[in-house]
Amino acid sequence: TDPVKPDFKNCGTAYAENDPLNINCCPPDSDNIIDYELPRPPQRLRVRQPAHMVGKEYIAKYEEAVRLMKELDKTNPNDPRGFMQQANVHCAYCNGPHEQVGHKGLDFQVHESWLFFPFHRWYLYFYERILGSLIGDPDFALPYWNWDHPAGMTMPPIFDNPRSPLYDAVRDPNNRGSAVVNLNYTSSEPTNDLTLVANNLRTMNSEMITSVNNTLQFMGAPYCDGSNPRPGMGTSERGSHTAIHIWVGTKDKTEEHKYNEDLGNFYSAGRDPLFYCHHGNVDRMWTIWRELDTPVRKDITSPNYLNAQFLFYDENARLVRVKVADCVDQEKMGYTYQYMPIPWLCYRP
Ligand code: C2O
Repeated sequence: TDPVKPDFKNCGTAYAENDPLNINCCPPDSDNIIDYELPRPPQRLRVRQPAHMVGKEYIAKYEEAVRLMKELDKTNPNDPRGFMQQANVHCAYCNGPHEQVGHKGLDFQVHESWLFFPFHRWYLYFYERILGSLIGDPDFALPYWNWDHPAGMTMPPIFDNPRSPLYDAVRDPNNRGSAVVNLNYTSSEPTNDLTLVANNLRTMNSEMITSVNNTLQFMGAPYCDGSNPRPGMGTSERGSHTAIHIWVGTKDKTEEHKYNEDLGNFYSAGRDPLFYCHHGNVDRMWTIWRELDTPVRKDITSPNYLNAQFLFYDENARLVRVKVADCVDQEKMGYTYQYMPIPWLCYRP
């Protein structure tokens, strides 16, 4: 077999739970595709900070960048750097519009397989560079939602301010403010905050360490050229990652919001600025896991993984082709995570 490739040319209908959606999330077309090369050597490392600890100056910059991105939607809805176009990237790669090159009817799907971490890493990489270029700050870095630490187990306040461009009204109103996240959404028994925090630490310990006996259990199942989509999720994707999506999305089940929008469905998730902050921490979990001193081999060596491709628009609105191999080491991509203690490391139930 070969690595899987997305067919950008034949972008089709988007679906949610098998219902065709009344939206077009296909990216603008371009015949000019550039094989992306990481800037080398990386200039300075951009440092992603925990969202609950950022300062005033940073908040102002970040808000301004997202405001400018939303502004692009109005001046040119086809600008691939615009806010809705960026949100649609997720829809195009996740709700069925993109098929695999040479396989009519077989979706290119980035979830529930070993493409999960690499795809989202590249997605955030370009999103971050676009924001940075809009405000003329090459050091700009996204914040991460530190939901694996008790101090970060509520919605980060910078996203919960209705006057901010970081706000999104399509969320569950019960899970704003001081509500504590539930990283294990299958357990819905009412409980108190302290128990929730303890359960969250146990969930983290399990999905990062005790439930991971081999590489693919964490990374997700192999997905190659001609494979059926969604061969199987890794522990982190299935656990804390999905739980946060569901926890934030609305549960109102109105006609307009029947798919747990915005964060709770692939097609709409990128419309909530919180998505990129959530995925910052998901990405950080990949980084932490690679560095964990456990007997499991950390990196997948299959060429079908390393040579898998995605297409993105970069901060200069050029369509670029990237490979999984180039995103395995985040420092080569020019960013790092500000250190926070990891309270679930030795946590035993
Ligand atoms: Cu592509 Cu968290 O989803």
